[in-house]
Amino acid sequence: MSQMALAKYENHAWSASSIVPSDKIELHPGAHVLHYSSTCFEGLKAFKHEDGSINIFRMDANIKRLAQSTELLYLPSIDKAQLGDMIKQIVALYANDVPAAPGSMYIRPTHIGTEASIGKAAVSSETSMLYVLISPVGDYFAGGVKPLRLLLEDNGMRCAPHMGMIKSGGNYASALGPIARARKNHSADQVLFCPNGDVQETGAANFILIDGNEIITKALDSSFLHGITRDSILTIARDMGMKVSERNFTVDELIERAQKPGTEAALSGTAAVLTPVGTLIHNGQEIRVGSGEAGATTMKLRQALNDIQWGKAEDKFGWLQKV
Ligand SMILES: Cc1ncc(COP(=O)(O)O)c(C=O)c1O
Repeated sequence: MSQMALAKYENHAWSASSIVPSDKIELHPGAHVLHYSSTCFEGLKAFKHEDGSINIFRMDANIKRLAQSTELLYLPSIDKAQLGDMIKQIVALYANDVPAAPGSMYIRPTHIGTEASIGKAAVSSETSMLYVLISPVGDYFAGGVKPLRLLLEDNGMRCAPHMGMIKSGGNYASALGPIARARKNHSADQVLFCPNGDVQETGAANFILIDGNEIITKALDSSFLHGITRDSILTIARDMGMKVSERNFTVDELIERAQKPGTEAALSGTAAVLTPVGTLIHNGQEIRVGSGEAGATTMKLRQALNDIQWGKAEDKFGWLQKV
Protein backbone atom coordinates (compact mmCIF):
# COMPACT_ATOMS: atom_id res chain seq x y z
CA MET A 1 0.00 0.00 0.00
CA SER A 2 1.26 3.50 -0.69
CA GLN A 3 1.26 4.69 2.94
CA MET A 4 2.54 3.38 6.27
CA ALA A 5 2.46 4.34 9.95
CA LEU A 6 5.76 5.65 11.34
CA ALA A 7 7.19 6.84 14.67
CA LYS A 8 10.73 7.86 15.64
CA TYR A 9 12.66 7.51 18.89
CA GLU A 10 14.87 10.56 19.32
CA ASN A 11 16.12 12.47 22.38
CA HIS A 12 14.95 9.61 24.63
CA ALA A 13 11.30 9.79 23.57
CA TRP A 14 8.94 8.43 20.95
CA SER A 15 7.38 10.92 18.55
CA ALA A 16 3.69 10.79 17.85
CA SER A 17 3.09 8.37 14.97
CA SER A 18 2.06 9.64 11.59
CA ILE A 19 0.88 8.26 8.26
CA VAL A 20 3.56 8.79 5.60
CA PRO A 21 4.34 7.57 2.05
CA SER A 22 5.61 3.98 2.17
CA ASP A 23 8.02 4.11 -0.76
CA LYS A 24 10.93 5.79 1.02
CA ILE A 25 12.49 6.65 4.35
CA GLU A 26 15.33 9.02 5.02
CA LEU A 27 18.33 7.39 6.62
CA HIS A 28 21.93 8.45 7.13
CA PRO A 29 24.27 6.16 5.11
CA GLY A 30 26.07 5.49 8.39
CA ALA A 31 22.86 4.44 10.18
CA HIS A 32 23.44 1.68 12.75
CA VAL A 33 21.00 -0.71 11.06
CA LEU A 34 22.86 -0.59 7.73
CA HIS A 35 26.17 -1.60 9.30
CA TYR A 36 25.44 -3.55 12.47
CA SER A 37 22.01 -5.04 11.65
CA SER A 38 20.11 -3.47 14.53
CA THR A 39 16.78 -4.49 13.02
CA CYS A 40 13.83 -6.58 14.01
CA PHE A 41 10.41 -7.06 12.52
CA GLU A 42 7.11 -8.91 12.76
CA GLY A 43 4.71 -10.59 10.37
CA LEU A 44 1.00 -10.85 11.12
CA LYS A 45 -2.24 -10.74 9.19
CA ALA A 46 -5.65 -9.08 9.13
CA PHE A 47 -8.65 -11.02 7.84
CA LYS A 48 -11.92 -9.84 6.33
CA HIS A 49 -14.99 -11.64 7.69
CA GLU A 50 -18.24 -12.22 5.83
CA ASP A 51 -19.88 -9.41 7.85
CA GLY A 52 -17.28 -7.02 6.37
CA SER A 53 -15.36 -6.57 9.65
CA ILE A 54 -11.54 -6.54 9.60
CA ASN A 55 -9.88 -8.68 12.27
CA ILE A 56 -6.20 -8.79 13.18
CA PHE A 57 -4.94 -12.19 14.33
CA ARG A 58 -2.93 -12.36 17.59
CA MET A 59 -1.68 -8.79 17.36
CA ASP A 60 -0.74 -8.67 21.05
CA ALA A 61 1.46 -11.76 20.73
CA ASN A 62 3.30 -10.25 17.76
CA ILE A 63 3.78 -6.93 19.55
CA LYS A 64 5.12 -8.79 22.58
CA ARG A 65 7.60 -10.67 20.38
CA LEU A 66 8.75 -7.42 18.72
CA ALA A 67 9.23 -5.88 22.17
CA GLN A 68 11.32 -8.90 23.14
CA SER A 69 13.41 -8.77 19.92
CA THR A 70 13.90 -5.05 20.58
CA GLU A 71 15.16 -5.68 24.12
CA LEU A 72 17.51 -8.46 23.00
CA LEU A 73 19.00 -6.15 20.33
CA TYR A 74 19.30 -3.28 22.84
CA LEU A 75 17.23 -1.00 20.61
CA PRO A 76 15.13 1.69 22.34
CA SER A 77 12.12 0.00 24.01
CA ILE A 78 8.94 0.22 21.99
CA ASP A 79 5.66 1.53 23.38
CA LYS A 80 3.41 -1.51 22.89
CA ALA A 81 0.17 0.48 23.05
CA GLN A 82 1.47 2.95 20.48
CA LEU A 83 2.45 0.15 18.10
CA GLY A 84 -0.99 -1.43 18.51
CA ASP A 85 -2.59 1.88 17.57
CA MET A 86 -0.26 2.26 14.57
CA ILE A 87 -1.16 -1.21 13.29
CA LYS A 88 -4.89 -0.65 13.71
CA GLN A 89 -4.70 2.81 12.17
CA ILE A 90 -2.94 1.74 8.98
CA VAL A 91 -5.11 -1.36 8.54
CA ALA A 92 -8.28 0.71 9.10
CA LEU A 93 -7.10 3.21 6.50
CA TYR A 94 -6.88 0.42 3.91
CA ALA A 95 -9.85 -1.62 5.15
CA ASN A 96 -11.31 -1.66 1.63
CA ASP A 97 -8.13 -3.25 0.31
CA VAL A 98 -8.13 -6.20 2.70
CA PRO A 99 -8.89 -9.17 0.40
CA ALA A 100 -11.73 -11.52 1.28
CA ALA A 101 -10.93 -15.18 2.08
CA PRO A 102 -8.72 -16.89 1.02
CA GLY A 103 -6.68 -13.67 0.89
CA SER A 104 -5.62 -11.44 3.79
CA MET A 105 -3.65 -8.28 4.58
CA TYR A 106 -0.05 -8.97 5.62
CA ILE A 107 1.29 -6.53 8.24
CA ARG A 108 5.02 -5.91 8.71
CA PRO A 109 6.00 -3.83 11.77
CA THR A 110 9.72 -2.99 11.52
CA HIS A 111 12.07 -1.47 14.10
CA ILE A 112 15.53 -0.22 13.06
CA GLY A 113 18.46 1.51 14.73
CA THR A 114 18.98 4.86 13.00
CA GLU A 115 21.86 6.47 14.86
CA ALA A 116 24.50 7.70 12.42
CA SER A 117 27.64 6.35 13.98
CA ILE A 118 29.95 4.01 12.12
CA GLY A 119 32.14 3.91 15.21
CA LYS A 120 29.38 2.19 17.22
CA ALA A 121 30.09 -1.38 16.15
CA ALA A 122 29.94 -2.55 19.75
CA VAL A 123 27.41 -0.06 21.12
CA SER A 124 23.67 -0.02 20.52
CA SER A 125 21.79 2.68 18.62
CA GLU A 126 20.31 5.45 20.74
CA THR A 127 17.76 6.42 18.12
CA SER A 128 15.39 4.28 16.11
CA MET A 129 12.48 4.22 13.71
CA LEU A 130 9.38 2.06 13.93
CA TYR A 131 7.09 1.68 10.93
CA VAL A 132 4.24 -0.56 9.83
CA LEU A 133 4.00 -1.65 6.20
CA ILE A 134 0.99 -3.54 4.88
CA SER A 135 0.42 -5.55 1.72
CA PRO A 136 -2.51 -7.66 0.50
CA VAL A 137 -1.66 -11.34 0.02
CA GLY A 138 -3.45 -14.10 -1.81
CA ASP A 139 -3.88 -17.79 -1.17
CA TYR A 140 -0.60 -19.56 -0.50
CA PHE A 141 -2.20 -22.75 -1.82
CA ALA A 142 -3.63 -21.24 -5.02
CA GLY A 143 -1.91 -23.92 -7.10
CA GLY A 144 -3.12 -26.75 -4.83
CA VAL A 145 -1.39 -28.30 -1.86
CA LYS A 146 2.04 -29.56 -2.84
CA PRO A 147 3.91 -31.21 0.03
CA LEU A 148 7.33 -29.65 0.57
CA ARG A 149 10.79 -31.15 0.22
CA LEU A 150 13.09 -30.32 3.15
CA LEU A 151 16.84 -30.76 3.28
CA LEU A 152 17.95 -31.83 6.77
CA GLU A 153 21.02 -29.77 7.64
CA ASP A 154 22.72 -31.35 10.64
CA ASN A 155 26.07 -29.62 10.40
CA GLY A 156 25.40 -25.91 10.11
CA MET A 157 22.81 -23.84 11.93
CA ARG A 158 20.37 -21.12 10.87
CA CYS A 159 21.98 -18.45 13.02
CA ALA A 160 23.95 -18.00 16.23
CA PRO A 161 22.17 -19.99 18.97
CA HIS A 162 21.61 -16.97 21.23
CA MET A 163 19.95 -15.07 18.35
CA GLY A 164 17.38 -17.64 17.22
CA MET A 165 14.43 -16.30 19.18
CA ILE A 166 15.00 -12.76 17.84
CA LYS A 167 13.13 -11.99 14.61
CA SER A 168 16.05 -10.08 13.16
CA GLY A 169 17.29 -9.52 9.61
CA GLY A 170 20.77 -10.86 10.31
CA ASN A 171 19.36 -14.31 11.08
CA TYR A 172 17.70 -14.45 7.67
CA ALA A 173 20.90 -13.27 5.96
CA SER A 174 22.80 -16.02 7.75
CA ALA A 175 20.40 -18.69 6.41
CA LEU A 176 20.33 -17.48 2.78
CA GLY A 177 23.44 -19.39 1.66
CA PRO A 178 22.38 -22.81 3.00
CA ILE A 179 18.87 -22.35 1.57
CA ALA A 180 20.17 -21.27 -1.86
CA ARG A 181 22.48 -24.31 -1.98
CA ALA A 182 19.70 -26.67 -0.89
CA ARG A 183 17.48 -25.36 -3.71
CA LYS A 184 20.22 -25.66 -6.30
CA ASN A 185 21.77 -28.96 -5.27
CA HIS A 186 18.74 -30.88 -3.97
CA SER A 187 15.69 -29.12 -5.46
CA ALA A 188 14.65 -28.66 -1.83
CA ASP A 189 12.01 -26.08 -0.95
CA GLN A 190 13.56 -25.30 2.41
CA VAL A 191 16.26 -26.33 4.86
CA LEU A 192 15.32 -27.88 8.19
CA PHE A 193 18.13 -26.79 10.48
CA CYS A 194 19.16 -29.56 12.88
CA PRO A 195 22.47 -28.51 14.48
CA ASN A 196 24.21 -31.58 15.94
CA GLY A 197 21.11 -33.60 15.13
CA ASP A 198 18.69 -31.37 17.13
CA VAL A 199 15.60 -30.78 14.94
CA GLN A 200 14.86 -27.03 15.13
CA GLU A 201 13.10 -25.03 12.40
CA THR A 202 13.36 -23.98 8.75
CA GLY A 203 14.39 -20.59 7.37
CA ALA A 204 10.91 -19.10 7.79
CA ALA A 205 8.70 -21.54 9.68
CA ASN A 206 8.56 -23.94 12.63
CA PHE A 207 8.51 -27.71 12.16
CA ILE A 208 5.99 -30.12 13.64
CA LEU A 209 5.75 -33.88 13.44
CA ILE A 210 2.41 -35.65 13.77
CA ASP A 211 2.42 -39.28 14.82
CA GLY A 212 -1.11 -40.56 15.28
CA ASN A 213 -2.75 -38.51 18.02
CA GLU A 214 0.54 -36.92 19.09
CA ILE A 215 2.21 -33.71 17.92
CA ILE A 216 5.94 -33.50 18.54
CA THR A 217 7.82 -30.21 18.20
CA LYS A 218 10.95 -28.74 19.70
CA ALA A 219 10.51 -27.26 23.18
CA LEU A 220 10.99 -23.49 23.39
CA ASP A 221 14.52 -22.26 24.03
CA SER A 222 16.54 -19.27 22.84
CA SER A 223 17.85 -21.00 19.70
CA PHE A 224 14.81 -20.69 17.41
CA LEU A 225 11.85 -18.44 16.71
CA HIS A 226 8.83 -18.92 18.97
CA GLY A 227 6.23 -19.01 16.24
CA ILE A 228 2.80 -17.64 17.01
CA THR A 229 1.29 -20.05 14.48
CA ARG A 230 3.11 -22.88 16.30
CA ASP A 231 1.50 -21.78 19.56
CA SER A 232 -1.91 -21.44 17.88
CA ILE A 233 -1.73 -24.89 16.28
CA LEU A 234 -0.62 -26.52 19.53
CA THR A 235 -3.47 -24.79 21.39
CA ILE A 236 -6.02 -26.00 18.80
CA ALA A 237 -4.54 -29.52 18.86
CA ARG A 238 -4.77 -29.73 22.66
CA ASP A 239 -8.34 -28.47 22.46
CA MET A 240 -9.11 -31.26 19.95
CA GLY A 241 -7.80 -33.79 22.47
CA MET A 242 -4.45 -34.41 20.81
CA LYS A 243 -1.34 -35.07 22.87
CA VAL A 244 1.18 -32.25 22.44
CA SER A 245 4.82 -33.09 23.21
CA GLU A 246 7.10 -30.08 23.29
CA ARG A 247 10.48 -31.71 23.59
CA ASN A 248 13.78 -31.97 21.79
CA PHE A 249 14.13 -34.74 19.23
CA THR A 250 16.88 -35.87 16.92
CA VAL A 251 17.25 -36.39 13.19
CA ASP A 252 17.47 -40.15 13.87
CA GLU A 253 14.12 -40.15 15.67
CA LEU A 254 12.59 -37.96 12.96
CA ILE A 255 13.71 -40.29 10.17
CA GLU A 256 12.55 -43.38 12.05
CA ARG A 257 9.11 -41.94 12.76
CA ALA A 258 8.73 -40.41 9.29
CA GLN A 259 8.96 -43.84 7.69
CA LYS A 260 5.95 -45.19 9.58
CA PRO A 261 2.75 -45.14 7.55
CA GLY A 262 0.42 -42.41 8.82
CA THR A 263 3.15 -40.09 10.08
CA GLU A 264 2.77 -36.47 8.98
CA ALA A 265 5.08 -33.46 9.09
CA ALA A 266 4.30 -29.81 8.51
CA LEU A 267 5.69 -26.28 8.66
CA SER A 268 3.85 -23.66 10.68
CA GLY A 269 4.11 -19.93 10.15
CA THR A 270 2.11 -16.83 9.31
CA ALA A 271 2.78 -17.29 5.57
CA ALA A 272 2.80 -21.11 5.55
CA VAL A 273 -0.18 -21.43 7.95
CA LEU A 274 0.37 -25.20 8.15
CA THR A 275 2.01 -26.60 5.03
CA PRO A 276 2.54 -30.35 4.65
CA VAL A 277 6.03 -31.76 4.29
CA GLY A 278 6.22 -34.79 1.98
CA THR A 279 9.93 -35.54 1.69
CA LEU A 280 13.04 -35.27 3.85
CA ILE A 281 16.46 -35.27 2.19
CA HIS A 282 19.36 -36.50 4.31
CA ASN A 283 22.87 -37.61 3.33
CA GLY A 284 21.81 -37.85 -0.32
CA GLN A 285 18.80 -40.04 0.46
CA GLU A 286 15.16 -39.11 0.06
CA ILE A 287 12.82 -40.19 2.86
CA ARG A 288 9.09 -40.03 2.30
CA VAL A 289 7.09 -38.78 5.27
CA GLY A 290 4.20 -41.24 5.74
CA SER A 291 2.40 -41.42 2.39
CA GLY A 292 4.32 -38.42 1.05
CA GLU A 293 1.01 -36.62 0.57
CA ALA A 294 -0.70 -33.89 2.60
CA GLY A 295 -1.78 -35.52 5.87
CA ALA A 296 -5.40 -35.53 7.06
CA THR A 297 -4.51 -34.20 10.53
CA THR A 298 -2.35 -31.44 9.04
CA MET A 299 -5.22 -30.31 6.84
CA LYS A 300 -7.72 -30.56 9.70
CA LEU A 301 -5.56 -28.36 11.97
CA ARG A 302 -4.93 -25.92 9.15
CA GLN A 303 -8.65 -25.66 8.46
CA ALA A 304 -9.44 -25.15 12.16
CA LEU A 305 -6.96 -22.26 12.32
CA ASN A 306 -8.21 -20.70 9.06
CA ASP A 307 -11.82 -21.02 10.27
CA ILE A 308 -11.02 -18.95 13.38
CA GLN A 309 -9.09 -16.40 11.31
CA TRP A 310 -11.92 -15.90 8.82
CA GLY A 311 -14.65 -15.88 11.47
CA LYS A 312 -16.13 -19.22 10.40
CA ALA A 313 -15.52 -20.77 13.82
CA GLU A 314 -15.85 -19.29 17.30
CA ASP A 315 -12.81 -17.28 18.40
CA LYS A 316 -12.74 -19.23 21.65
CA PHE A 317 -9.17 -18.29 22.57
CA GLY A 318 -9.72 -14.54 22.03
CA TRP A 319 -7.19 -14.25 19.20
CA LEU A 320 -8.93 -11.70 16.95
CA GLN A 321 -8.96 -7.97 17.36
CA LYS A 322 -11.33 -5.85 15.29
CA VAL A 323 -9.94 -2.65 13.79
C1 LIG B 1 12.56 -18.44 11.23
C2 LIG B 1 11.09 -18.48 11.46
N1 LIG B 1 10.59 -19.45 12.27
C3 LIG B 1 9.29 -19.53 12.52
C4 LIG B 1 8.38 -18.63 11.98
C5 LIG B 1 6.93 -18.77 12.29
O1 LIG B 1 6.52 -17.72 13.13
P1 LIG B 1 5.01 -17.22 13.13
O2 LIG B 1 4.17 -18.43 13.29
O3 LIG B 1 4.94 -16.31 14.30
O4 LIG B 1 4.78 -16.55 11.83
C6 LIG B 1 8.85 -17.61 11.15
C7 LIG B 1 7.97 -16.59 10.55
O5 LIG B 1 6.97 -16.78 9.94
C8 LIG B 1 10.24 -17.54 10.88
O6 LIG B 1 10.72 -16.58 10.06
